[in-house]
Amino acid sequence: MEKTSVIILAAGRGTRMKSELPKVMHKVAGQEMLNMVISAASKLNPQEISIVVSDDFAKFEQQVFVQNKGIDLSFVTQIERNGTADAANIGYQALSKKSDKIIILYGDTPLIKENTLREMSDSVSNGASVCVLGFECHVKNQYGKLLLDKDGNLDKIVENKDASDSEKNISLCNSGVVAIDGGRFEEFLNQVSNDNAAQEFYLTDIVGIARNSRLKCSYIVTGDENEVLGVNSRAELAKIESIKQDELRNGHMQSGITLIDPNSIYFAHDTKIGNDSIIHPNVVFGGGVEIASNVEIKSFSHIEGAKIEDGAMIGPFARIRPGSQIGEKVRIGNFVEVKNSLLSEGTKVNHLSYVGDSQVGRDSNIGAGTVTCNYDGYNKYKTVIGDGVFVGSNCALVAPVNIGDGALIGAGSVVTKDVAGDDLVIARSPQRAIESGARKFRNNKKKN
Ligand code: UD1
Ligand code: CA
Repeated sequence: MEKTSVIILAAGRGTRMKSELPKVMHKVAGQEMLNMVISAASKLNPQEISIVVSDDFAKFEQQVFVQNKGIDLSFVTQIERNGTADAANIGYQALSKKSDKIIILYGDTPLIKENTLREMSDSVSNGASVCVLGFECHVKNQYGKLLLDKDGNLDKIVENKDASDSEKNISLCNSGVVAIDGGRFEEFLNQVSNDNAAQEFYLTDIVGIARNSRLKCSYIVTGDENEVLGVNSRAELAKIESIKQDELRNGHMQSGITLIDPNSIYFAHDTKIGNDSIIHPNVVFGGGVEIASNVEIKSFSHIEGAKIEDGAMIGPFARIRPGSQIGEKVRIGNFVEVKNSLLSEGTKVNHLSYVGDSQVGRDSNIGAGTVTCNYDGYNKYKTVIGDGVFVGSNCALVAPVNIGDGALIGAGSVVTKDVAGDDLVIARSPQRAIESGARKFRNNKKKN
Protein backbone atom coordinates (compact mmCIF):
# COMPACT_ATOMS: atom_id res chain seq x y z
CA MET A 1 0.00 0.00 0.00
CA GLU A 2 1.43 3.36 -1.04
CA LYS A 3 1.42 6.03 1.64
CA THR A 4 0.27 9.59 1.08
CA SER A 5 0.73 12.77 3.11
CA VAL A 6 -0.97 16.08 2.53
CA ILE A 7 0.29 19.64 3.00
CA ILE A 8 -2.28 22.43 3.10
CA LEU A 9 -1.00 25.93 2.42
CA ALA A 10 -2.91 28.47 4.47
CA ALA A 11 -0.46 31.13 5.56
CA GLY A 12 -1.94 33.84 3.36
CA ARG A 13 -3.12 36.88 5.33
CA GLY A 14 -6.36 37.22 3.45
CA THR A 15 -6.26 41.01 3.76
CA ARG A 16 -9.01 41.48 1.17
CA MET A 17 -11.45 39.70 3.46
CA LYS A 18 -11.09 42.66 5.90
CA SER A 19 -11.64 40.25 8.77
CA GLU A 20 -10.39 39.44 12.25
CA LEU A 21 -10.86 35.78 11.35
CA PRO A 22 -8.18 33.98 9.32
CA LYS A 23 -9.46 33.59 5.77
CA VAL A 24 -9.60 29.79 5.87
CA MET A 25 -11.85 29.90 8.96
CA HIS A 26 -14.65 31.60 7.06
CA LYS A 27 -17.51 29.21 6.45
CA VAL A 28 -19.26 27.76 3.43
CA ALA A 29 -22.57 26.01 4.15
CA GLY A 30 -21.67 26.28 7.82
CA GLN A 31 -18.26 24.63 7.49
CA GLU A 32 -14.88 26.35 7.72
CA MET A 33 -13.05 26.33 4.37
CA LEU A 34 -10.04 24.72 6.01
CA ASN A 35 -12.22 21.88 7.28
CA MET A 36 -13.65 21.40 3.79
CA VAL A 37 -10.13 20.97 2.44
CA ILE A 38 -9.16 18.65 5.32
CA SER A 39 -12.27 16.61 4.66
CA ALA A 40 -11.52 16.24 0.92
CA ALA A 41 -7.91 15.31 1.72
CA SER A 42 -8.87 12.80 4.38
CA LYS A 43 -10.87 10.79 1.84
CA LEU A 44 -7.51 9.69 0.43
CA ASN A 45 -6.65 8.20 3.84
CA PRO A 46 -3.38 10.12 4.17
CA GLN A 47 -1.11 9.11 7.02
CA GLU A 48 -0.86 12.74 8.08
CA ILE A 49 -1.82 16.28 7.10
CA SER A 50 0.36 19.28 7.87
CA ILE A 51 -1.17 22.72 7.67
CA VAL A 52 1.00 25.77 7.07
CA VAL A 53 -0.45 28.82 8.78
CA SER A 54 0.58 32.34 9.70
CA ASP A 55 1.48 33.17 13.29
CA ASP A 56 -1.97 34.57 14.11
CA PHE A 57 -3.60 31.18 13.66
CA ALA A 58 -2.59 29.68 17.04
CA LYS A 59 -5.85 30.41 18.79
CA PHE A 60 -7.84 28.50 16.16
CA GLU A 61 -5.78 25.29 16.14
CA GLN A 62 -7.62 23.62 19.00
CA GLN A 63 -10.96 24.13 17.27
CA VAL A 64 -9.66 22.52 14.08
CA PHE A 65 -8.30 19.53 16.04
CA VAL A 66 -11.67 19.03 17.76
CA GLN A 67 -13.55 19.30 14.47
CA ASN A 68 -11.32 16.68 12.83
CA LYS A 69 -10.96 14.01 15.48
CA GLY A 70 -9.23 10.87 14.26
CA ILE A 71 -7.25 12.67 11.54
CA ASP A 72 -3.51 13.08 12.13
CA LEU A 73 -3.15 16.87 11.78
CA SER A 74 -0.32 19.20 12.64
CA PHE A 75 0.07 22.95 12.31
CA VAL A 76 3.29 24.68 11.40
CA THR A 77 3.88 28.41 11.16
CA GLN A 78 5.37 30.25 8.23
CA ILE A 79 6.68 33.52 9.63
CA GLU A 80 7.64 35.25 6.40
CA ARG A 81 5.57 34.75 3.31
CA ASN A 82 8.39 33.73 1.00
CA GLY A 83 6.31 31.92 -1.57
CA THR A 84 4.52 28.65 -2.14
CA ALA A 85 7.70 26.52 -2.28
CA ASP A 86 8.87 27.97 1.02
CA ALA A 87 5.46 27.24 2.55
CA ALA A 88 5.42 23.72 1.09
CA ASN A 89 8.93 23.13 2.44
CA ILE A 90 7.90 24.23 5.93
CA GLY A 91 4.90 21.89 5.69
CA TYR A 92 7.09 19.08 4.43
CA GLN A 93 9.61 19.45 7.29
CA ALA A 94 6.72 19.18 9.74
CA LEU A 95 5.70 15.75 8.45
CA SER A 96 6.82 13.01 10.79
CA LYS A 97 6.71 10.06 8.40
CA LYS A 98 8.10 9.26 4.99
CA SER A 99 5.48 8.88 2.31
CA ASP A 100 5.34 7.75 -1.30
CA LYS A 101 3.25 10.70 -2.38
CA ILE A 102 2.76 14.26 -1.22
CA ILE A 103 -0.32 16.23 -2.16
CA ILE A 104 -0.32 20.01 -1.84
CA LEU A 105 -3.64 21.80 -1.41
CA TYR A 106 -4.61 25.41 -0.75
CA GLY A 107 -6.71 26.18 2.32
CA ASP A 108 -8.60 28.85 0.40
CA THR A 109 -9.63 26.57 -2.48
CA PRO A 110 -12.32 24.56 -0.74
CA LEU A 111 -14.29 22.87 -3.51
CA ILE A 112 -11.53 20.47 -4.50
CA LYS A 113 -12.90 17.00 -5.18
CA GLU A 114 -11.76 13.64 -3.88
CA ASN A 115 -11.89 12.09 -7.36
CA THR A 116 -9.59 14.72 -8.81
CA LEU A 117 -7.07 14.14 -6.03
CA ARG A 118 -7.26 10.41 -6.64
CA GLU A 119 -6.64 10.86 -10.35
CA MET A 120 -3.57 13.00 -9.62
CA SER A 121 -2.32 10.57 -7.04
CA ASP A 122 -2.73 7.70 -9.53
CA SER A 123 -0.71 9.62 -12.10
CA VAL A 124 2.19 9.79 -9.62
CA SER A 125 1.80 6.07 -8.87
CA ASN A 126 2.04 5.48 -12.61
CA GLY A 127 5.42 7.16 -12.96
CA ALA A 128 4.93 10.94 -13.01
CA SER A 129 7.18 12.66 -10.49
CA VAL A 130 4.84 15.67 -10.44
CA CYS A 131 1.18 15.86 -11.46
CA VAL A 132 -0.41 19.30 -11.64
CA LEU A 133 -4.11 20.13 -11.66
CA GLY A 134 -4.75 22.50 -14.55
CA PHE A 135 -7.83 24.31 -15.80
CA GLU A 136 -8.80 26.25 -18.88
CA CYS A 137 -9.16 30.02 -18.57
CA HIS A 138 -9.79 31.99 -21.74
CA VAL A 139 -9.63 35.51 -20.37
CA LYS A 140 -6.56 37.50 -19.35
CA ASN A 141 -5.53 36.33 -15.88
CA GLN A 142 -2.77 36.18 -13.27
CA TYR A 143 -2.48 32.40 -13.06
CA GLY A 144 0.65 30.41 -13.75
CA LYS A 145 0.66 28.90 -17.26
CA LEU A 146 1.28 25.25 -18.11
CA LEU A 147 3.85 24.80 -20.88
CA LEU A 148 3.77 21.45 -22.70
CA ASP A 149 6.50 19.73 -24.69
CA LYS A 150 6.03 18.56 -28.27
CA ASP A 151 4.56 15.26 -27.02
CA GLY A 152 1.97 17.13 -24.99
CA ASN A 153 3.56 16.35 -21.62
CA LEU A 154 3.92 18.98 -18.92
CA ASP A 155 7.32 20.62 -19.30
CA LYS A 156 7.26 23.77 -17.18
CA ILE A 157 5.05 26.20 -15.33
CA VAL A 158 5.69 29.85 -15.89
CA GLU A 159 4.22 32.39 -13.49
CA ASN A 160 2.26 35.13 -15.18
CA LYS A 161 4.61 37.80 -13.80
CA ASP A 162 7.53 36.07 -15.49
CA ALA A 163 5.75 35.05 -18.69
CA SER A 164 6.44 36.37 -22.17
CA ASP A 165 3.54 37.97 -24.06
CA SER A 166 2.83 34.78 -25.97
CA GLU A 167 3.01 32.66 -22.80
CA LYS A 168 0.54 35.01 -21.12
CA ASN A 169 -1.99 33.97 -23.78
CA ILE A 170 -1.85 30.27 -22.88
CA SER A 171 -5.27 29.20 -21.68
CA LEU A 172 -4.11 26.14 -19.73
CA CYS A 173 -3.56 27.46 -16.20
CA ASN A 174 -2.22 26.17 -12.91
CA SER A 175 -4.71 25.63 -10.09
CA GLY A 176 -1.92 25.24 -7.54
CA VAL A 177 -2.98 21.75 -6.52
CA VAL A 178 -0.16 19.31 -7.11
CA ALA A 179 0.78 15.70 -6.35
CA ILE A 180 4.47 14.82 -6.04
CA ASP A 181 6.62 11.74 -5.72
CA GLY A 182 7.39 11.70 -2.00
CA GLY A 183 10.88 10.26 -2.56
CA ARG A 184 11.93 13.21 -4.68
CA PHE A 185 10.13 16.18 -3.19
CA GLU A 186 12.98 17.28 -0.94
CA GLU A 187 15.50 17.13 -3.79
CA PHE A 188 13.16 19.29 -5.92
CA LEU A 189 12.58 21.82 -3.14
CA ASN A 190 16.31 22.18 -2.55
CA GLN A 191 16.73 23.39 -6.12
CA VAL A 192 14.02 26.08 -6.05
CA SER A 193 15.44 29.61 -6.01
CA ASN A 194 13.77 32.99 -5.69
CA ASP A 195 15.40 34.40 -8.78
CA ASN A 196 12.18 35.65 -10.39
CA ALA A 197 9.91 38.66 -10.78
CA ALA A 198 8.31 38.25 -7.36
CA GLN A 199 11.55 37.22 -5.59
CA GLU A 200 9.55 34.36 -4.09
CA PHE A 201 10.23 30.65 -3.96
CA TYR A 202 7.76 29.28 -6.50
CA LEU A 203 6.47 25.77 -5.94
CA THR A 204 5.66 25.73 -9.63
CA ASP A 205 9.41 25.62 -10.37
CA ILE A 206 9.54 21.96 -9.36
CA VAL A 207 8.12 21.00 -12.77
CA GLY A 208 11.08 22.49 -14.67
CA ILE A 209 13.44 21.05 -12.04
CA ALA A 210 12.03 17.53 -12.46
CA ARG A 211 12.22 17.84 -16.24
CA ASN A 212 15.90 18.87 -15.99
CA SER A 213 16.48 15.52 -14.32
CA ARG A 214 14.59 13.90 -17.21
CA LEU A 215 11.70 12.93 -14.97
CA LYS A 216 8.18 12.77 -16.26
CA CYS A 217 5.60 15.39 -15.25
CA SER A 218 1.90 15.16 -15.94
CA TYR A 219 -1.20 17.28 -15.59
CA ILE A 220 -4.90 16.75 -15.56
CA VAL A 221 -7.52 19.30 -16.51
CA THR A 222 -10.49 19.62 -14.22
CA GLY A 223 -13.85 19.04 -15.84
CA ASP A 224 -15.42 21.28 -13.23
CA GLU A 225 -13.87 24.74 -13.13
CA ASN A 226 -15.54 25.50 -9.82
CA GLU A 227 -13.33 23.09 -7.98
CA VAL A 228 -10.27 25.28 -8.48
CA LEU A 229 -11.93 28.55 -7.43
CA GLY A 230 -10.08 30.33 -4.65
CA VAL A 231 -11.43 32.78 -2.12
CA ASN A 232 -9.79 36.16 -1.64
CA SER A 233 -12.79 38.37 -0.91
CA ARG A 234 -16.27 38.21 0.58
CA ALA A 235 -17.72 38.26 -2.93
CA GLU A 236 -15.71 35.17 -3.85
CA LEU A 237 -16.81 33.54 -0.60
CA ALA A 238 -20.44 34.19 -1.59
CA LYS A 239 -19.79 32.68 -5.00
CA ILE A 240 -18.38 29.51 -3.43
CA GLU A 241 -21.37 29.41 -1.07
CA SER A 242 -23.78 29.52 -3.98
CA ILE A 243 -21.94 26.75 -5.84
CA LYS A 244 -21.88 24.63 -2.68
CA GLN A 245 -25.60 25.25 -2.06
CA ASP A 246 -26.43 24.08 -5.58
CA GLU A 247 -24.33 20.98 -5.00
CA LEU A 248 -26.17 20.25 -1.73
CA ARG A 249 -29.59 20.87 -3.29
CA ASN A 250 -28.88 18.52 -6.18
CA GLY A 251 -27.52 15.90 -3.79
CA HIS A 252 -30.70 15.96 -1.69
CA MET A 253 -32.96 15.78 -4.74
CA GLN A 254 -30.96 12.85 -6.06
CA SER A 255 -31.45 11.03 -2.80
CA GLY A 256 -35.22 11.34 -3.08
CA ILE A 257 -36.19 14.55 -1.34
CA THR A 258 -38.62 16.99 -2.91
CA LEU A 259 -37.42 20.59 -2.87
CA ILE A 260 -40.30 22.66 -4.14
CA ASP A 261 -38.09 25.65 -4.93
CA PRO A 262 -34.48 24.45 -4.58
CA ASN A 263 -32.89 27.87 -5.00
CA SER A 264 -34.70 29.26 -1.97
CA ILE A 265 -33.64 26.46 0.37
CA TYR A 266 -30.30 26.72 2.20
CA PHE A 267 -28.61 23.64 3.60
CA ALA A 268 -25.69 23.13 5.94
CA HIS A 269 -22.85 20.90 4.77
CA ASP A 270 -24.01 18.19 7.18
CA THR A 271 -27.80 18.31 6.76
CA LYS A 272 -29.18 14.77 6.59
CA ILE A 273 -32.66 14.10 5.21
CA GLY A 274 -34.49 10.84 4.58
CA ASN A 275 -36.23 10.17 1.30
CA ASP A 276 -39.78 11.28 0.55
CA SER A 277 -39.43 14.28 2.79
CA ILE A 278 -40.71 17.52 1.28
CA ILE A 279 -39.07 20.89 1.83
CA HIS A 280 -41.14 23.92 0.92
CA PRO A 281 -39.65 27.20 -0.32
CA ASN A 282 -37.57 29.46 1.93
CA VAL A 283 -36.40 26.99 4.51
CA VAL A 284 -32.96 27.42 6.12
CA PHE A 285 -30.95 24.68 7.82
CA GLY A 286 -28.20 25.44 10.31
CA GLY A 287 -25.64 22.80 11.24
CA GLY A 288 -26.34 19.43 12.82
CA VAL A 289 -29.80 18.67 11.46
CA GLU A 290 -30.98 15.12 10.94
CA ILE A 291 -34.37 14.58 9.37
CA ALA A 292 -35.99 11.19 8.80
CA SER A 293 -38.30 10.15 5.96
CA ASN A 294 -41.72 11.53 5.08
CA VAL A 295 -41.14 14.72 7.00
CA GLU A 296 -42.65 17.92 5.65
CA ILE A 297 -41.00 21.25 6.37
CA LYS A 298 -43.17 24.17 5.37
CA SER A 299 -42.01 27.58 4.27
CA PHE A 300 -39.99 30.07 6.29
CA SER A 301 -38.80 27.61 8.89
CA HIS A 302 -35.32 27.72 10.42
CA ILE A 303 -33.93 24.48 11.81
CA GLU A 304 -30.62 23.96 13.58
CA GLY A 305 -29.05 21.20 15.69
CA ALA A 306 -32.21 19.12 15.74
CA LYS A 307 -33.38 15.62 15.03
CA ILE A 308 -36.78 15.25 13.38
CA GLU A 309 -38.37 11.84 13.10
CA ASP A 310 -40.58 10.14 10.52
CA GLY A 311 -43.75 11.81 9.39
CA ALA A 312 -43.34 14.99 11.42
CA MET A 313 -44.78 18.22 10.01
CA ILE A 314 -42.96 21.47 10.74
CA GLY A 315 -43.95 25.06 10.01
CA PRO A 316 -44.69 27.28 8.24
CA PHE A 317 -42.69 29.85 10.23
CA ALA A 318 -41.26 27.42 12.78
CA ARG A 319 -37.94 27.76 14.55
CA ILE A 320 -36.34 24.58 15.81
CA ARG A 321 -33.21 25.24 17.84
CA PRO A 322 -30.31 23.06 18.96
CA GLY A 323 -30.92 20.11 21.23
CA SER A 324 -34.43 19.48 19.97
CA GLN A 325 -35.78 16.08 19.14
CA ILE A 326 -39.09 16.05 17.34
CA GLY A 327 -40.76 12.63 17.44
CA GLU A 328 -42.72 10.75 14.82
CA LYS A 329 -45.80 12.47 13.43
CA VAL A 330 -45.34 15.47 15.71
CA ARG A 331 -46.80 18.72 14.42
CA ILE A 332 -45.08 22.02 14.99
CA GLY A 333 -47.07 24.88 13.56
CA ASN A 334 -46.63 28.55 12.79
CA PHE A 335 -44.63 30.87 15.05
CA VAL A 336 -43.55 28.08 17.33
CA GLU A 337 -40.04 28.01 18.77
CA VAL A 338 -38.66 24.79 20.20
CA LYS A 339 -35.30 24.72 21.98
CA ASN A 340 -33.50 21.82 23.66
CA SER A 341 -36.70 19.83 24.02
CA LEU A 342 -37.98 16.37 23.36
CA LEU A 343 -41.46 16.15 21.84
CA SER A 344 -42.66 12.55 21.66
CA GLU A 345 -44.71 10.85 18.97
CA GLY A 346 -47.98 12.42 17.94
CA THR A 347 -47.72 15.57 20.05
CA LYS A 348 -48.93 18.88 18.63
CA VAL A 349 -47.70 22.40 19.23
CA ASN A 350 -49.53 24.16 16.50
CA HIS A 351 -49.53 27.89 17.16
CA LEU A 352 -47.49 30.69 18.70
CA SER A 353 -45.64 28.78 21.42
CA TYR A 354 -42.25 28.63 23.07
CA VAL A 355 -41.17 25.21 24.27
CA GLY A 356 -37.71 25.28 25.86
CA ASP A 357 -35.77 22.83 28.06
CA SER A 358 -38.83 20.62 28.07
CA GLN A 359 -39.83 17.04 27.72
CA VAL A 360 -43.28 16.34 26.33
CA GLY A 361 -44.82 12.86 26.19
CA ARG A 362 -46.88 11.28 23.44
CA ASP A 363 -50.10 12.59 21.97
CA SER A 364 -50.16 15.73 24.05
CA ASN A 365 -51.55 19.00 22.81
CA ILE A 366 -49.96 22.30 23.69
CA GLY A 367 -52.46 25.06 23.06
CA ALA A 368 -51.90 28.27 21.15
CA GLY A 369 -49.67 30.80 22.83
CA THR A 370 -48.41 28.51 25.56
CA VAL A 371 -45.00 29.36 26.92
CA THR A 372 -42.64 27.30 29.04
CA CYS A 373 -41.06 29.85 31.37
CA ASN A 374 -37.66 28.20 31.61
CA TYR A 375 -35.45 31.08 32.68
CA ASP A 376 -35.45 33.32 35.74
CA GLY A 377 -32.66 35.55 34.55
CA TYR A 378 -30.02 33.34 36.20
CA ASN A 379 -30.75 29.67 35.61
CA LYS A 380 -32.64 27.46 33.19
CA TYR A 381 -35.26 25.00 34.47
CA LYS A 382 -37.01 22.03 33.00
CA THR A 383 -40.67 21.47 32.17
CA VAL A 384 -41.85 17.86 32.04
CA ILE A 385 -45.21 17.13 30.43
CA GLY A 386 -46.57 13.57 30.33
CA ASP A 387 -48.52 11.61 27.72
CA GLY A 388 -51.97 12.67 26.57
CA VAL A 389 -51.81 16.03 28.32
CA PHE A 390 -53.98 18.89 27.09
CA VAL A 391 -52.63 22.35 27.81
CA GLY A 392 -55.20 25.01 26.96
CA SER A 393 -54.35 28.17 25.07
CA ASN A 394 -52.14 30.89 26.48
CA CYS A 395 -50.79 29.04 29.48
CA ALA A 396 -47.54 29.91 31.22
CA LEU A 397 -45.81 26.82 32.59
CA VAL A 398 -43.33 28.12 35.14
CA ALA A 399 -40.40 25.73 35.34
CA PRO A 400 -39.34 23.64 37.08
CA VAL A 401 -42.74 22.00 36.80
CA ASN A 402 -44.17 18.53 36.06
CA ILE A 403 -47.52 17.83 34.50
CA GLY A 404 -48.71 14.22 34.87
CA ASP A 405 -50.16 12.00 32.15
CA GLY A 406 -53.67 12.84 31.05
CA ALA A 407 -53.83 16.15 32.90
CA LEU A 408 -55.87 19.03 31.54
CA ILE A 409 -54.83 22.63 32.06
CA GLY A 410 -57.44 25.31 31.56
CA ALA A 411 -56.68 28.13 29.13
CA GLY A 412 -54.82 31.11 30.48
CA SER A 413 -53.44 29.25 33.47
CA VAL A 414 -50.16 30.21 35.08
CA VAL A 415 -48.96 26.87 36.35
CA THR A 416 -46.40 27.16 39.14
CA LYS A 417 -46.93 23.84 40.94
CA ASP A 418 -46.74 20.26 39.76
CA VAL A 419 -49.96 18.83 38.33
CA ALA A 420 -50.93 15.23 39.10
CA GLY A 421 -51.94 12.87 36.30
CA ASP A 422 -55.57 13.16 35.13
CA ASP A 423 -56.16 16.30 37.24
CA LEU A 424 -57.92 19.32 35.78
CA VAL A 425 -56.14 22.48 36.80
CA ILE A 426 -57.31 26.01 36.33
CA ALA A 427 -54.86 28.58 37.61
CA ARG A 428 -56.28 31.96 36.72
CA SER A 429 -58.42 34.50 38.53
CA PRO A 430 -62.08 33.47 38.48
CA GLN A 431 -64.42 35.37 36.21
CA ARG A 432 -66.64 37.94 37.91
CA ALA A 433 -69.77 39.43 36.31
CA ILE A 434 -71.30 42.75 37.38
CA GLU A 435 -74.85 42.69 36.16
CA SER A 436 -75.48 45.42 33.57
CA GLY A 437 -72.23 46.98 34.68
CA ALA A 438 -71.25 47.90 31.15
CA ARG A 439 -74.46 49.84 30.55
CA LYS A 440 -74.10 51.66 33.89
CA PHE A 441 -70.52 52.57 33.01
CA ARG A 442 -71.55 54.05 29.64
CA ASN A 443 -74.41 55.99 31.15
CA ASN A 444 -72.08 57.46 33.72
CA LYS A 445 -69.68 58.59 30.99
CA LYS A 446 -72.44 60.30 28.98
CA LYS A 447 -73.49 62.49 31.99
CA ASN A 448 -70.01 64.09 32.18
C1 UD1 B 1 -0.22 30.36 -7.17
C2 UD1 B 1 0.63 29.66 -8.22
C3 UD1 B 1 0.03 29.92 -9.60
C4 UD1 B 1 -1.40 29.47 -9.66
C5 UD1 B 1 -2.20 30.13 -8.53
C6 UD1 B 1 -3.58 29.54 -8.45
C7 UD1 B 1 2.93 29.68 -7.40
C8 UD1 B 1 4.26 30.32 -7.48
N1 UD1 B 1 1.98 30.18 -8.17
O1 UD1 B 1 -0.09 31.74 -7.42
O2 UD1 B 1 0.77 29.24 -10.59
O3 UD1 B 1 -1.98 29.78 -10.90
O4 UD1 B 1 -1.56 29.91 -7.25
O5 UD1 B 1 -4.33 30.26 -7.54
O6 UD1 B 1 2.78 28.70 -6.67
N2 UD1 B 1 0.81 30.64 0.53
C9 UD1 B 1 1.45 30.43 1.73
N3 UD1 B 1 2.67 30.99 1.92
C10 UD1 B 1 3.30 31.72 0.98
C11 UD1 B 1 2.64 31.93 -0.26
C12 UD1 B 1 1.41 31.37 -0.45
O7 UD1 B 1 0.91 29.76 2.61
O8 UD1 B 1 4.41 32.17 1.23
C13 UD1 B 1 -0.51 30.03 0.31
C14 UD1 B 1 -1.63 31.05 0.21
O9 UD1 B 1 -2.24 31.23 1.47
C15 UD1 B 1 -2.58 30.43 -0.77
C16 UD1 B 1 -1.68 29.60 -1.67
O10 UD1 B 1 -0.48 29.38 -0.94
O11 UD1 B 1 -3.49 29.55 -0.16
C17 UD1 B 1 -1.38 30.28 -2.99
O12 UD1 B 1 -0.77 31.51 -2.75
P1 UD1 B 1 -1.06 32.77 -3.64
O13 UD1 B 1 -0.27 33.89 -3.18
O14 UD1 B 1 -2.52 32.95 -3.80
O15 UD1 B 1 -0.43 32.23 -5.03
P2 UD1 B 1 -0.52 32.93 -6.42
O16 UD1 B 1 0.51 33.94 -6.50
O17 UD1 B 1 -1.92 33.31 -6.67
CA1 CA C 1 -4.07 33.11 -5.50
